[in-house]
Amino acid sequence: MESSTPLFERRPEIKSTPGLATSDRVILCGPIWAGRVAGPIRTWLNEHGKQGGQFVWVPHSGANRAWPKAIAEITDLTGHPPSRVFPFAQSDFAKGKAEGKATELAASLKQLT
Ligand SMILES: Cc1cc2nc3c(=O)[nH]c(=O)nc-3n(C[C@H](O)[C@H](O)[C@H](O)COP(=O)(O)O)c2cc1C
Repeated sequence: MESSTPLFERRPEIKSTPGLATSDRVILCGPIWAGRVAGPIRTWLNEHGKQGGQFVWVPHSGANRAWPKAIAEITDLTGHPPSRVFPFAQSDFAKGKAEGKATELAASLKQLT
């Protein structure tokens, strides 16, 4: 990959954990970079995103936003939108909201079939 490739297109080399790609549901948790998925997540989705299963997207970021470009990229690389989107921002941790949101996320995952 050329060093001139824009940050939001980079696909750095990664080592995948064996077995993940065959899971029925993947909880994709990672940082937002430049308003999009982080490069290593892009690499993994490019290699495994179309192998089936549901994706739950749990981004974390400095700002508190919905990050539509990240969702569009996940949709493109998996062939379908994430079944749930559950963002965390730095302010959730600073204001003590993160634990409550994590509990809410866990309850929401139990409802997925
Ligand atoms: C290269 C890079 C780009 C980032 N771009 C954004 C951004 O566009 N918006 C944002 O709110 N946070 C951005 N951040 C902040 C990360 O989302 C934040 O560092 C991350 O959620 C915290 O996880 P970490 O401890 O793994 O860095 C960026 C961080 C890095 C390193």
